[in-house]
Amino acid sequence: MSGSKRVAVIPGDGIGPEVVRSALEVLDAAGADFERIFLDIGCGRWQRTGQAMSDEDLAAVKECDCILFGAISTPPDPNYRSVLLRLRKGLDLYANIRPFRGKGLDFIIVRENTEGLYSGLEEVGVEESRTLRVVTRRGSERIAEKACDLATGRRRLTIVHKSNVLRSDRLFLEVCRSVAARRALDCEDMLVDAAAYNLVVNPDRFDVLVTTNLFGDILSDEAAGVIGSLGLCASANVGPAKALFEPIHGSAPDIAGKGIANPVGAIRSGAMMMQWLGEPEMAERIEKAVEAALAGGARTPDLGGQCRTEDVTQAVLREMGGQN
Ligand code: IPM
Ligand code: MG
Repeated sequence: MSGSKRVAVIPGDGIGPEVVRSALEVLDAAGADFERIFLDIGCGRWQRTGQAMSDEDLAAVKECDCILFGAISTPPDPNYRSVLLRLRKGLDLYANIRPFRGKGLDFIIVRENTEGLYSGLEEVGVEESRTLRVVTRRGSERIAEKACDLATGRRRLTIVHKSNVLRSDRLFLEVCRSVAARRALDCEDMLVDAAAYNLVVNPDRFDVLVTTNLFGDILSDEAAGVIGSLGLCASANVGPAKALFEPIHGSAPDIAGKGIANPVGAIRSGAMMMQWLGEPEMAERIEKAVEAALAGGARTPDLGGQCRTEDVTQAVLREMGGQN
């Protein structure tokens, strides 16, 4: 790969900058070659200027191939709109792909990322407020296609929904089923409450799950708990042209600046980015090094360990050096 790829780097707030630094160190060691455009976007920026992300920032992001994102705190402003949601919507990053690997488990949640209860169509009143849950055929079709791509060659696809109550989910279920049938993939479906239960008591039965926006949001934090820590988990937010890679944890202001944040989610996000940029072997090498470092005991306090962010980063770098 030439250095012609441009990556917008948004470290953000809290532990975001610490974990993004680790991810970039690992990417450098892996030989990743891309131009970095650092953007100061987030709550810190909002405190200084009254704006978390300007239109110029969004334009700069659009000039890049993809984004490496840390975490952004939510400013205490009722009119504030999440930067992450603006980026997902603005770049049409419709597929949120969240792999969960750890404790002998290996499954992926594929979350629709632009509609559902995140439609932004809301009426806010004093006595009553409403949020419109939007499920479209096109939105369901493209997320189902993405899930089928990921499920191909794997064990099984599970469509997670609440169609016994939500009529909008009947459309989601019908479309996902027909896409899976067209792709000749075996699939099952499961109500979201049952899926939440099974994720805890029988997580092994899952392989690739596809679901709507809010269900995916909730189930993915649950899944992170099941494999051991939010700090281990990465995600890719993928659209037709652009993509954003981020650890699924938030900005964790309580531990920011202490040097103990788990960098693994961000490092794995960097690996997912390299995969998307057409460097699957590099992505694989990083993932292997992460797994070896974790197996070797490189664990931050969220995993019950005593390592610091830098110790874990160095352990991953050592494992990469020792490969082959
Ligand atoms: C996530 C987060 C976001 C979401 C927030 C920060 C808007 O929880 O990526 O899972 O709800 O999607
Ligand atoms: Mg979430």
